[in-house]
Amino acid sequence: MTSLKIVLAAIRKRGFRVSAQHILDALLGALLSHSRMVLKKCASFPLCASRASRNWFPRKQRQAFPALPVLLCLFAALAGCRGVSLNPDPSADIAPPQLFMFSPLPAHGPAVGITAVRVDLGRRLYYDTHLSVNNSISCNDCHQLAKYGVDPGKAVSEGHNKMPGGRNSPTVYNAGLQFAQFWDGRAATLAAQASGPMMNPVEMGMPGPGAVLAYIHSNPAYLKAFRQAYPDVKDPVVMENVTDAIATFEEGLLTPSRWDEYLEGNTSALSDHEKEGLRVFLRSGCAACHAGTAMGGNSYAQLGAYRNWPDQKSDPGRYDVTRLPRDRMYFKVPVLRNVAETGPYFHNGQVKTLDEAVRLMGQYQTGEKLSSDEVSSIVSFLHALTGNIPEQYIQPPSAEPPSKAATIHHRQQLQANRQTQSTSTEGE
Ligand code: HEC
Ligand code: HEC
Repeated sequence: MTSLKIVLAAIRKRGFRVSAQHILDALLGALLSHSRMVLKKCASFPLCASRASRNWFPRKQRQAFPALPVLLCLFAALAGCRGVSLNPDPSADIAPPQLFMFSPLPAHGPAVGITAVRVDLGRRLYYDTHLSVNNSISCNDCHQLAKYGVDPGKAVSEGHNKMPGGRNSPTVYNAGLQFAQFWDGRAATLAAQASGPMMNPVEMGMPGPGAVLAYIHSNPAYLKAFRQAYPDVKDPVVMENVTDAIATFEEGLLTPSRWDEYLEGNTSALSDHEKEGLRVFLRSGCAACHAGTAMGGNSYAQLGAYRNWPDQKSDPGRYDVTRLPRDRMYFKVPVLRNVAETGPYFHNGQVKTLDEAVRLMGQYQTGEKLSSDEVSSIVSFLHALTGNIPEQYIQPPSAEPPSKAATIHHRQQLQANRQTQSTSTEGE
């Protein structure tokens, strides 16, 4: 009963009016009308629930809400069955309780006060190629803000010396909504993530934090901006503030879409085909992993949860971070917002089309062979997650003046490169 109350509270918090009767109806309706589907979902349910409770919630929260992940999972499975069985009419709307595991983007007005000053500083740093060793690349080269925050069409990006990295560049849009950063979650926050690329030998290749700070010190306009953004400290030019400013800018990289309008109650925001896709998405159990505000970024999941992924060797995912055998082939579930624009797909960018990505997900993650109609409707639903790029917010600042420090970096880089001719992706 307590568990039911927790679920009800979670649903109501999202503005839906539901009663305990509603939930029992849904369970009963699903059982009666789709017993085969329910059985199938129930069969995979213990697996899904145990994974969810292990991965979705940090240990502390798990102790506080032991029943929540289990119930979320059960509800996702049952809501999915009901969605298909009870809504044969393509224009029919999906009952709100089935959408409770999603939520629209938080309202995000223009930044004000000190935050606005930090956003401006973060934007400058984001676009500044001087933060790379030979002044050749910035964050924006691999995460192009005008191109949905990725390196479009590239399986893996090239770093400052044209050396390819090991993984596909994920989008920076909506990344702040995630519970961890990187495909293997090795950085907890955007700020913790941001220092990685600058010092990574195959990305921006700076020899160390000293080189980054020396460059900033060499630019009087930056010094002034740092003092304004972090007025309470004596020496504001420290790595912590560099990464904080970048992260503060990234927090505002949100892309509201038709999906948000739909979740806010505008049922005509999705076309019939997209609604059909949403139904298949729910029924197939995609939302067991791709849910929440970002449609992902809430958990790790095994790539090959249903059947072994063919390539078990090239990249063991989170195992590289924890060295725990149970983390082998676990990756952070990626965000699906804007996924129609962020190909190629998967951690290594080896999957070229969204159709193929969805088909493989059915085959390896949910154990369902999706028909080409089902794939096409899911893909059409995924297109509805494409949001509006905040044109004004991402306006590139004017180029930073050349700096003397840059020449010193270049020399340091040549030296550093000689020492580390490695393709490690340790930093990023
Ligand atoms: C040379 C290309 C390259 C450059 C330059 C680069 N990145 Fe990345 N970025 C990547 C790749 C590749 C990954 C994924 C690496 C992994 O998961 O192991 C990534 C991951 C990220 C993520 C995590 C997103 C997620 O969903 O997990 C964020 C945020 C990010 N980068 C921001 C930045 C910022 C800020 C900068 C500039 C300071 C930057 N990147 C510079 C290639 C790059
Ligand atoms: C058990 C968890 C799980 C389920 C269920 C699941 N996915 Fe995924 N999904 C993942 C993981 C993990 C990845 C990342 C794969 C990788 O790293 O190579 C992913 C990747 C994707 C991608 C590629 C995203 C990108 O940016 O590269 C798409 C698209 C996708 N999933 C859609 C779906 C659809 C549609 C379904 C339902 C048919 C589904 N997923 C079911 C865990 C899951």
